[in-house]
Amino acid sequence: MYKIAIVGSGNVAWHLTKRLVEQKVDVVLLARNKSKLAEFEHNFNIKTYDKIKPIGGIDLYIIAVKDSAIAHVAAQLKNQPLAHTAGSIEMDLLSFYTDQFGVIYPFQTFRRETDVSWQQIPVFVEACCPDFEQKISSIANLLSPNIFYLNSHKRQYLHLAGVFTNNFINHLLSITKQILETHGLKYQWVFPLLQKTIENAQKFAPGQVQTGPAVRNDKIVIEKHLKLLQNPDWQKVYSALSQSIFNSTKSSDDLD
Ligand SMILES: NC(=O)c1ccc[n+]([C@@H]2O[C@H](COP(=O)([O-])OP(=O)(O)OC[C@H]3O[C@@H](n4cnc5c(N)ncnc54)[C@H](OP(=O)(O)O)[C@@H]3O)[C@@H](O)[C@H]2O)c1
Repeated sequence: MYKIAIVGSGNVAWHLTKRLVEQKVDVVLLARNKSKLAEFEHNFNIKTYDKIKPIGGIDLYIIAVKDSAIAHVAAQLKNQPLAHTAGSIEMDLLSFYTDQFGVIYPFQTFRRETDVSWQQIPVFVEACCPDFEQKISSIANLLSPNIFYLNSHKRQYLHLAGVFTNNFINHLLSITKQILETHGLKYQWVFPLLQKTIENAQKFAPGQVQTGPAVRNDKIVIEKHLKLLQNPDWQKVYSALSQSIFNSTKSSDDLD
């Protein structure tokens, strides 16, 4: 059985630790934040270290820190087997610090307070060399049965798609909630609509099932909505999205 060191104590570190401990893997945690270390110890009954440095006997250090700190952390783990978990950071960044390096990128949104279903999460791996690829893949396989090999170039497009799918949709829902609650309306009234939107997007090409004022080029309603919005940031979001919806309708009409 592998001995894995998770590096970092944020959202991804939490979920990786939880899953690997559930899978009976020997996990230790290395992170700089002492109060977070105590929470990991308490929740998962694992050994933790408040210094990021090699500790010996580790099969893989999984670096789950913020993207801009990956190089700094890797420099503290020289000549160790390393993987990072970032969508938009090239694997080769790690090659400056070790000759065993790779990536384990779980394509999901992770927040400590919400559970995830690892069985369904696609996990994308990349590795420096065939032997290490085998090791990284079998470790990733402890997280999820859905393992795919993806190079750094393609992974950045997957991450970009994830920003549209999760971050932007989530932001639009945050605006939705504020609009409704400011006007004494219930946020949960949108849930059936949200459900149908996701259902349609999974069944059909999303561009083919678009409805609303932008696709109809209904300028009167669009102007009315812009006035109701008032918040200049939200007006810009509304205008940019409406324009993009209208343009994509136009270009698909041109193809007819
Ligand atoms: N969250 C997601 O949905 C998601 C999904 C897939 C991949 N990822 C990737 O996973 C990685 C971790 O993301 P996250 O969401 O878990 O981030 P996060 O919750 O913001 O946690 C960031 C972690 O980085 C640590 N850190 C920051 N600067 C550091 C430094 N100089 N030295 C040591 N530790 C440092 C922080 O420690 P302190 O608490 O001490 O500041 C914290 O433990 C990122 O590469 C991200 O791109 C995230």
